[in-house]
Amino acid sequence: MNDLIIQNISELILPKKTDKPLKGAELADLKIIKNGTVVIKDGKIVYAGEYNDEYVATETIDAQGKTVSPALVDAHTHIVHGGSREHEMSLKRQGVSYLEILEQGGGIHSTVKATREATEEELFEKAEYELLRMIHHGVLSVESKSGYGLSLEHELKQLRVSKKLHEKYGINMKHTYLGPHAVPKDKDSDAFIKECINDLEQVKGLADFADIFCETGVFTIDQSREYMKAAKKLGMPVKIHADEIDPLGGLELAIEEDAISADHLVAASEKGKQMLNDSDTVAVLLPGTTFYLDKNEYADARGMLNNNGAIAIATDYNPGSCVTSNLQMVMSIAALKLKLSPKEIWNAVTVNAAKAIGLDAGTINTGDEANLVIWHAKNHEYVPYHYGVNHAEKVIHKGKVIVE
Ligand code: NIG
Ligand code: FE
Repeated sequence: MNDLIIQNISELILPKKTDKPLKGAELADLKIIKNGTVVIKDGKIVYAGEYNDEYVATETIDAQGKTVSPALVDAHTHIVHGGSREHEMSLKRQGVSYLEILEQGGGIHSTVKATREATEEELFEKAEYELLRMIHHGVLSVESKSGYGLSLEHELKQLRVSKKLHEKYGINMKHTYLGPHAVPKDKDSDAFIKECINDLEQVKGLADFADIFCETGVFTIDQSREYMKAAKKLGMPVKIHADEIDPLGGLELAIEEDAISADHLVAASEKGKQMLNDSDTVAVLLPGTTFYLDKNEYADARGMLNNNGAIAIATDYNPGSCVTSNLQMVMSIAALKLKLSPKEIWNAVTVNAAKAIGLDAGTINTGDEANLVIWHAKNHEYVPYHYGVNHAEKVIHKGKVIVE
């Protein structure tokens, strides 16, 4: 006997199961089945496809008028941190830029202070609140970065909190060490990079990836290269916050170093975009950040796709540059500002986002873990269209309805 049948689904969204990220035109390749059926047993998908009434189960959900998709994947978040920075909103209104705030000791530095002062329990409680909010919004895979400790002790504290969340909720999580997120005010940047490189050995047990913020006034291309090579030597796959504000060549570096993802890329060069053609590095675009930094130029998603690049969309949830963990809202921004089609967006927040964090997730195929969302939406176009609110009606984790 099966456990659950979801029947009469108005639109069933089925991203393609693939080993590699979807590239270029493939991003628009999304199967959508009208009047679909999903059958679940022991937490796994038994059947997903056209209407089928041959199965029996102990429970049936009638999803007429609803859309069903794989649970969403948020491939870039800074969910574990202390404090908040609402006072920066008025500085922004006065025209002080993100990098100027950072230079003056605010921005990331202010979150570092709050994170260092917070106990592990306090950090856990705050991150847990937000993780539950994400789950309620249909996200069941989350990447979580450190980066607000800027010292081994406090980076490890953040990573432990991330692991504890993972253990408590059992959703898919990946943990990223982002020691080189800013240069501590009392340190020299070359010396600090060396320190982070030395610390890799000790964070490696808690972190799946090593990440760095390569940006004007933060870390240079050379420092980033040295750090990435050192991480790879220890067997840690690498990520990079690249070309967010200035075009330093971070995308080129990411591709040269075979990073699993290069994130932001608002200012990525033409050369970098062309290099995506021969690479499986996923360009993780974070349009919620561009929106919140109040910039006019967004990442050139179309240019990347035209160069046969692989792209994903994530929130970048953090207390400074993108203060929302609502990936649905970011899907709307992606539609408007990155000019992506609804099909491209669904792939970018499911299967491709999973590839950006090394997960086999974001699909609803026979044998897959049954992680899906029943949306209060009659078709797949509706979610990005009706922006700013939560459309997740039921969230199903390993076959169990955990949100309704
Ligand atoms: O991805 N750009 C660097 N890091 C974060 C922002 C961190 C912060 O402002 O607290 C980002 O945007
Ligand atoms: Fe980030």
